[in-house]
Amino acid sequence: MSSPISRVLATYDHTDLRHAAQAGIRAPSLHNSQPWLFGLRDGTIEIRVDPGRHLATDRSGWAARMACGAALYNARLALTAGGRPAVVDAHPDPADRDLIARLTPGNPRPPTYAEAELYDAIPRRYSNRGPFWPAPVPAGVRRALLGAAADELAWLDLLVGATSLAAVSEIAYSADRVLRRDARYQAELAGWTHADRAPDGVPSRAGAPLPEPQDLLPQRLFTDRRRLPGRDYEPEPLVGVLGVAGDRPADQIRAGQAMQKVLLAATAAGLDTSMISQPIEVPAARDQLRRALGRAGSPQILLRFGYGTPGHPTQRRDVADVLI
Ligand SMILES: Cc1cc2nc3c(=O)[nH]c(=O)nc-3n(C[C@H](O)[C@H](O)[C@H](O)COP(=O)(O)O)c2cc1C
Repeated sequence: MSSPISRVLATYDHTDLRHAAQAGIRAPSLHNSQPWLFGLRDGTIEIRVDPGRHLATDRSGWAARMACGAALYNARLALTAGGRPAVVDAHPDPADRDLIARLTPGNPRPPTYAEAELYDAIPRRYSNRGPFWPAPVPAGVRRALLGAAADELAWLDLLVGATSLAAVSEIAYSADRVLRRDARYQAELAGWTHADRAPDGVPSRAGAPLPEPQDLLPQRLFTDRRRLPGRDYEPEPLVGVLGVAGDRPADQIRAGQAMQKVLLAATAAGLDTSMISQPIEVPAARDQLRRALGRAGSPQILLRFGYGTPGHPTQRRDVADVLI
């Protein structure tokens, strides 16, 4: 165990920063906008929102904080895997809204088996928007997903039964219609959709096939690829809504970390995942969702889980581009 003096003197260096950022940049972000920066300050690692990559249609900053929260969770795992876990001070300065977290070295220790497993899952996680097979997700894996959310002080409601799925589906479609009528929103989405291997944005090959009216959930239009005629998208999807107690910036950073832990736990268990956020981005739909779930607190993202055919991981910018 380290003494109080060595704890006071413990600092992170550039190697730790690079290691943390390398894992951080694999986090998901809305439209793959990658709105994060990583820096060293007085021996601590700081994670910040990159104001230059803030989406114009993310007026409140929710999407940037979710993404940076997920990047923070990856960075925590990387530091833990390296034997130097961090003490996290999230959103330490309300006057500095872009400062997501400050990470100080805690007591050195080896990672647990579970932590090492989640760390190993980081490069294997990506959004798979294709249809999933009907195979049900086993009860033990569902419990692991619920536990992953709870570990980060969030809740995950896995929707059970046709009635709750239908209610959430209706809310998600009404939100999707609002966003589709919003020319600014669509222009920004189109600006982040690419045909090729750009270092950010969503390549069209990572998109779901074009939607059909009977689909349960609205998918974004990243591609014009049609699917086989008459084939239903997926008969029995597992959909979850992840939320936290409140909706302040610190709550959203917490939600981002919890989302990432759930996605990594799913990946480690052999599941494919994707995210749906239209009903969170439209305030009226989000209120409806909160009421439909009957939950105190605030829904932050919808997650889709299942077994898919291999999809297409998206690119990231070089780690050097996110270091400050
Ligand atoms: C806050 C947030 C909201 C997102 N919303 C959606 C969504 O509505 N539909 C979707 O297909 N992907 C959504 N994504 C996933 C991103 O598009 C994806 O993470 C990004 O393109 C990077 O790709 P990857 O997840 O394969 O690494 C969202 C991600 C975040 C963090």
